[in-house]
Amino acid sequence: MLSKQELLYEGKAKKVYRTDDPKYYWIEFKDDATAFDGAKKGKITGKGEVNARLSALLFPRLAVQGIPTHFVELLSPREMLVRELKIVPVEVVVRNIAAGSLSQRLGIAEGTPLKRPVLEFYYKSDDLHDPMINEYHIAALELASEEDLALMKNYALKINEYLIKFLQPANLVLVDFKLEFGHHEGKLMLGDEISPDTCRFWDARSGEKLDKDRFRRDLGGVEAAYQEVLRRVEALV
Ligand code: TMP
Repeated sequence: MLSKQELLYEGKAKKVYRTDDPKYYWIEFKDDATAFDGAKKGKITGKGEVNARLSALLFPRLAVQGIPTHFVELLSPREMLVRELKIVPVEVVVRNIAAGSLSQRLGIAEGTPLKRPVLEFYYKSDDLHDPMINEYHIAALELASEEDLALMKNYALKINEYLIKFLQPANLVLVDFKLEFGHHEGKLMLGDEISPDTCRFWDARSGEKLDKDRFRRDLGGVEAAYQEVLRRVEALV
């Protein structure tokens, strides 16, 4: 049994602790919420637990689909043991329906289905506010090898296909989501979390937003939406 050691890093939504084994990290999911690059700050009570539990439910299912992940086990409702990853500084966004920054940038009404999934890449840099980049930037700046980029694209599309189908019986529409990858002992794996913080989930019947957009846009009912997503997904399994 590994024990929690000193705090290594505190991010906007998670704390990462060392363990007595350098191969594993202990993550605590916080209720703190930020949006617009940290400009908006708040708290979503129960979010840490929802995000940890939802991620703990989804990661092993993705592993079964052939997607290696950093997840090892849920240690408490909001704490997770994960493999240590050397993070690839590229965030991968997958979109099925126009929303958020894509709608703004391209002038496409929110809710417009895209004819095929759209992949986007963002350079993970707080100083630069995560600018959007393309595959040429990734290669030229050596942010990821060609092999890893191909794997990240392949995994991202597979995860999308799997999650769309998995969430369907819960009446949850997967609008878009963000993924992060890293290397553990040289192997590329999915990291971070899969949650209403990192995905857009819409109710299939009403179109109601059940994700962090309720916080970003001050729509109210934020906590209830997070609980609702977890409740629906837990009812599936
Ligand atoms: P966007 O429309 O704001 O670009 O967001 C696309 C998806 O990525 C959406 O599901 C939310 C997620 N996302 C994050 O997880 N972290 C971020 O910092 C941003 C900007 C988006």
